Amino acid sequence: SASSAPGNMVHKKPVVIIVIGMAGSGKTTLMQRLVSHLSTSKSRGYVLNLDPAVMSLPFSANIDIRDTVNYKNVMKEYHLGPNGGILTSLNLFATKFDEVVGLVEARAADLDYVLVDTPGQIEIFTWSASGAIVIEAFASCFPTVVTYVVDTPRSVNPVTFMSNMLYACGILYKTRLPLLLAFNKVDVVKHQFAVEWMDDFEAFQAAVEGDSSYSSSLSRSLCLVLDEFYKNLSNAGVSAVTGEGIEDFFHQVDKCADEYMESY
Ligand code: GTP
Repeated sequence: SASSAPGNMVHKKPVVIIVIGMAGSGKTTLMQRLVSHLSTSKSRGYVLNLDPAVMSLPFSANIDIRDTVNYKNVMKEYHLGPNGGILTSLNLFATKFDEVVGLVEARAADLDYVLVDTPGQIEIFTWSASGAIVIEAFASCFPTVVTYVVDTPRSVNPVTFMSNMLYACGILYKTRLPLLLAFNKVDVVKHQFAVEWMDDFEAFQAAVEGDSSYSSSLSRSLCLVLDEFYKNLSNAGVSAVTGEGIEDFFHQVDKCADEYMESY
């Protein structure tokens, strides 16, 4: 019930959407699509960029880590390579994150969604202390949903699909927030196969066993693990390029937010 929500969560809105995805999944294009959908619909959005290394963003951000931390200077100052530079920039920004959440809180009454873009090197966000700080800071104030962007055409191979789902599974257990899989690029390949595999692990197992390169006993065990995992997550098929499925995506986000309000 709402009474078990964190004390300061008076309003149901805005819903925070943290967008995570492997390089090439289409995360940036999807962010751009989500931002433009909000600006043309009646919903009011707020946009945060947490990628210090992005050269140019195809959408405008209300708060941009690049305005606070200069990633190239961080690399020089701390003698770091690109990944260390991104991680350290994120750490520096995370120390001020309560101010960021304060800015969002001040605007909360006028907002429906807060879109959060994360670094392209996914593990820098998902497996770092600062990523956890950012997620926790939002989740303690607002209903917060994590979206994992999946490259659907690249996931038609059952073993690739399974690896991708295991990664998503790790994100679910690490963040302990509602997780929404955004099967992107459905203009190229429909995500129906993925829905079938998630609904019926025997169908998935049959597909995986057709792949001679794979140990079927391992796949059998993983199927059972994933079957449990699938019960805890939502999905939407989207195309960042054509805009197909974006309405349903937001509908799923709202359902995840309700789930959040009930259980956190
Ligand atoms: P990085 O910037 O490398 O982190 O990748 P990203 O995950 O942000 O992906 P990006 O948005 O740059 O998209 C990767 C490629 O996929 C680009 O060539 C996009 O045009 C393409 N792409 C993204 N979304 C879609 C989609 O819905 N359909 C199709 N057909 N292509 C897409």
